[in-house]
Amino acid sequence: MRKEFDIGMVGLGVMGRNLVLNMADHGYSIAGYDKDQGQVQALRSEAGSRDIMGAESMEELVGALRTPRAVMILVPAGPPVDSVIADLVPHLEEGDMIIDGGNSHFPDTDLRAEAMEKRGLKYLGVGISGGESGARHGPSMMPGGPQEAYERVRSIFEDTAAHVDGEPCVTYLGPGSAGHYVKMVHNGIEYGFMQLIAETYDLMKRGLGLGDDKLHDVYTAWNEAELESYLVEITSKIFVYEDEETGRRLIDVILDAAKQKGTGKWTSQDAMDLQAPVPTIDVAVTMRNLSAMDPEREEASKVISGPEAQFTGDREEFVERLRRALYAAMIMTYAQGMDQLQVASEAYEYNLDLEAIATIWRGGCIIRAALLEKICSAYGSRPDLPNLLVDPELGALVQARQEDLREVVRAAADMGIPAPGLAVSLAYFDGYRSAWLPANLIQAQRDYFGSHTYERIDQKGQFHTKWQKAEGG
Ligand code: 6PG
Repeated sequence: MRKEFDIGMVGLGVMGRNLVLNMADHGYSIAGYDKDQGQVQALRSEAGSRDIMGAESMEELVGALRTPRAVMILVPAGPPVDSVIADLVPHLEEGDMIIDGGNSHFPDTDLRAEAMEKRGLKYLGVGISGGESGARHGPSMMPGGPQEAYERVRSIFEDTAAHVDGEPCVTYLGPGSAGHYVKMVHNGIEYGFMQLIAETYDLMKRGLGLGDDKLHDVYTAWNEAELESYLVEITSKIFVYEDEETGRRLIDVILDAAKQKGTGKWTSQDAMDLQAPVPTIDVAVTMRNLSAMDPEREEASKVISGPEAQFTGDREEFVERLRRALYAAMIMTYAQGMDQLQVASEAYEYNLDLEAIATIWRGGCIIRAALLEKICSAYGSRPDLPNLLVDPELGALVQARQEDLREVVRAAADMGIPAPGLAVSLAYFDGYRSAWLPANLIQAQRDYFGSHTYERIDQKGQFHTKWQKAEGG
């Protein structure tokens, strides 16, 4: 007898398989398919008595679903998504829905959604955060696309998402690529936090000479107060993990060259296009690139020298300053990401609700942090808040920590330890709070060499000056 499964899953890698098990644990029936039959087999053996079926072909998967069908794709971003769509679409009927749950680049999602709409199919682009364990026990999900299509799968999403204070970490975000856009910025913020935490590690390791056990203690304590967050928590755990092969701490045998799949870079690229300043995210991408030049850095270290990376002041006080500086810089990173979302919302007509976004990031995702509660309240009391830094509570928190940030950036410069994430977060703060910036000079230079014109403070309009003539006297 033909079984009518609630939803199909194509792509049974770690994320896909765990999400299938999660959905099944919430009472849904799922048919899964992967072109690698080994993965299908793995799903079958993990399924136990759950209502899960492993299909041998795309046709079998589609045939097993109740109509109108909903098929989620969880494969790596880029060509694999198009290839699955090409194999899937011939089996679908008008009204069926495709859900891309991967980290697709948002312009690709818009193109795919348009192409699917022409064929009478619904297309949802859904960012899913939380890695393997999130997928299994409750991720944060960021859906975008036609709202009526989302309503059809809403209960599956709400039941399988992480929950905070009884609220699911998923909500409809907006049309088209809104979901994938929000997930992209989530990842940009993730890159920013990771870079900032890495800088505090560097300052404590090279600057203070702290060992792994002490670093574990510091990050554990940090995670117990205002810095409570998933990334600080896993950082503390990383320092005590032993490498089975060498018996050393694993962190000390990992090569210092960061990889990336592109989501942070896309955040920066689109922020540049939208002219939304996100310097902490930009620098996080740049530092991953610099770290990846490891053989070249190794050579350079032999011929270029700098100051001694040794801290000479009050060490305990410095650790405390680092903690406070990190908190301030994290607020600044959220402020930048939220600002980009606000600009994008207008430019791409997503109509994003920033409070709702902060709410669904409180659980399940990689950037979950206690701080998000304050961000939710900030947008709750003022939905059109221009920047988190002008929220009275968050602004005061940063102001109260600005001296710590300045001291840490000064110390890093003195010791020759790169801390560009912290430094640029401070510059963002100082730039944003400056009523005047030296951009009048940039305008003068542009007009001088390229007749690009400038505006004046005392008259309306565009002005141009024949600077050379003035110079010639
Ligand atoms: C998440 C993560 C997830 C993935 C990153 C890794 O929210 O669960 O962001 O999507 O781990 O894409 O990105 P990089 O490989 O670029 O660091």
